[in-house]
Amino acid sequence: MKHLAVVIVMIIVWLNGLIWLGNQVDPSTKYATEIEYKYARYCAGCHGNDGQGNGRIGRFKKLDPADLTDNSLWDMHDDERLLDSINDGKNDMPAFYYYLNDEEQREILNYIKEAFRP
Ligand code: HEC
Repeated sequence: MKHLAVVIVMIIVWLNGLIWLGNQVDPSTKYATEIEYKYARYCAGCHGNDGQGNGRIGRFKKLDPADLTDNSLWDMHDDERLLDSINDGKNDMPAFYYYLNDEEQREILNYIKEAFRP
């Protein structure tokens, strides 16, 4: 009888583990669109969830990431120029050509424009 109880407890623990695993959702499903997820994954750490350049990494490392909600940034730089910065990096901003291909960079630029440009 003792054995049976041990086996039952083990099965319950194991089932619990399975249920827990099933609940571990893929983080990409937290975002409405793929591009929102990419911004959150690659850019928000520095530029912040709301684009104001106040992301945690940026603040912690005192990088002074660009404020994407600042009109003068958009006035001063055209798309090609901004794509260059995303692709090749700029000062403390890392280069993204390794992680995002040209099309994805363009999508992300369109996304930050729509989301943050005043
Ligand atoms: C490690 C922090 C960091 C990450 C991650 C980061 N940036 Fe930046 N970003 C910066 C900093 C710092 C600057 C300011 C660079 C400068 O002008 O000296 C900047 C500037 C910019 C600019 C203005 C570029 C220009 O030519 O003036 C754009 C646009 C931009 N980032 C977009 C992005 C996008 C899109 C992503 C995600 C793919 C991203 N950044 C990820 C730190 C970061």
